[in-house]
Amino acid sequence: MISAIVLGAGIGKRMHSQLPKVLHKICGREMIFYAIDSVKDVADNGVVVVINEAIPKEIFEGYEIKVQKKPLGTGDAVKVAIDGLDTDLVLITTGDNPLFEREDILGFYNFFKETNSDVAFISAESDDPTNLGRVVRIGNEFLKIVEETDATNEEKVIKEINTGVYLFKFEQLKKLLEKISNDNAQGEYYLTDALKIAKEEGLKVSVYKLPKKLPIYGINNRYELSIAEKIIQEKILKKHMLNGVTIHNPETQKIDYFVEIENDTEILPGCLLEGKTKIESNCVIGPFAQIVDSHISKGSTVKQSVVLSSYVGENCSIGPFAYVRPENLLVKNVKIGTFVEVKKSKFDEGAKVPHLSYIGDATIGKNVNIGAGTITCNFSGLEGNKKNPTYIEDDVFIGSHSTLVAPLVIRRGAYTAAGSVITQEVPEDSLAIARAQQVNKIGWVKRRKGQNG
Ligand code: UD1
Ligand code: CA
Repeated sequence: MISAIVLGAGIGKRMHSQLPKVLHKICGREMIFYAIDSVKDVADNGVVVVINEAIPKEIFEGYEIKVQKKPLGTGDAVKVAIDGLDTDLVLITTGDNPLFEREDILGFYNFFKETNSDVAFISAESDDPTNLGRVVRIGNEFLKIVEETDATNEEKVIKEINTGVYLFKFEQLKKLLEKISNDNAQGEYYLTDALKIAKEEGLKVSVYKLPKKLPIYGINNRYELSIAEKIIQEKILKKHMLNGVTIHNPETQKIDYFVEIENDTEILPGCLLEGKTKIESNCVIGPFAQIVDSHISKGSTVKQSVVLSSYVGENCSIGPFAYVRPENLLVKNVKIGTFVEVKKSKFDEGAKVPHLSYIGDATIGKNVNIGAGTITCNFSGLEGNKKNPTYIEDDVFIGSHSTLVAPLVIRRGAYTAAGSVITQEVPEDSLAIARAQQVNKIGWVKRRKGQNG
């Protein structure tokens, strides 16, 4: 039986952040979950995640959570984790280590079994070992891991580093943890000291040198965060491409971890696809589209636009330059065109808002055409903060520059004349003309030279 422990209780000072380090997101997902993913399949006895009090437990559904009250070091964090644990082997990784994959951990586990080790860890060659624990050997024999702050100048030039992934026989781990002290430059209980002690006590300590080289081993600052994000972004893009999505200029795309895209969709340059967005097949997205937590159905296009928390049905067209704010439903064949803002509205099949409009809190029927410059005045200014609804039934034609003062109903097949201010229900198949100049005569005075208003 193998239990995995993922350490995430450190504060991460070098991030200079209010947010605990392991909650910083990589491609829309907290970094610690990538580390959990790398070990969870090997850990047939479950995963224990060690967090601090500032991290909400609820986000770790399905994992055992242990809280380390004070960040006394990685050794102390493991002590907290094993309290009450019953297992044979313990696999440990750090929550700031998102670039390891399941295959790397499997390779390490097989090595551990083959070498019949009591203790083992993964080392790697690093071009820039600064701030990482160095692997000190005598000849080829492992001696100890020394942290940057405790290293001598000779030790600092060592390029073989500790990646922070370990396997221990559980019985040995328990005894070793009792023996580590905090007598070092940082005054912390180092997990790495357990390896040195194991070696001194004659246990079998093995070093698994990672067969590949990664640009970083652990994220300690925002620069390293960006390096990790670049690599994970490439993996996500590759997965979509291999599934049949065409992605142009991949270096310009931000496509988050949870985004789903079906085949034969094309992503043009400069898109941000975020949150739990799903894009069905045969869509054209971009250039420059931001889509967050939304569903885009087959055959739709979204160009140079923002779409937030909305459902877009089949064959809809959005943009260029549309702002689809949360809670819209576009049923099918709907057009939301240039410089149009929509919010909390339903657009039934074939409805069109081609240009320069604001439609909010509205229910728009089938084949309705809304002329340029139409505004639903959901907020009249006369009733506090109340937002009023607008209902426009099927086959209505709203003339350009109509002002629709809600609450309002426009019945099936009605027309409103261009430039109208509509304040009352418009009956079926009627033409409503309510232009300002028909209500109030326009007055004027002679303009003095240089007078603007
Ligand atoms: C650690 C290793 C170092 C290794 C490096 C790899 C130690 C002493 N050093 O250094 O040899 O090269 O990782 O990335 O282990 N954490 C806790 N509680 C604590 C302290 C840390 O849970 O009290 C967690 C952190 O949240 C983090 C992980 O342990 O996810 C590693 O801690 P960090 O402070 O980043 O260790 P490093 O100095 O990077
Ligand atoms: Ca680290």
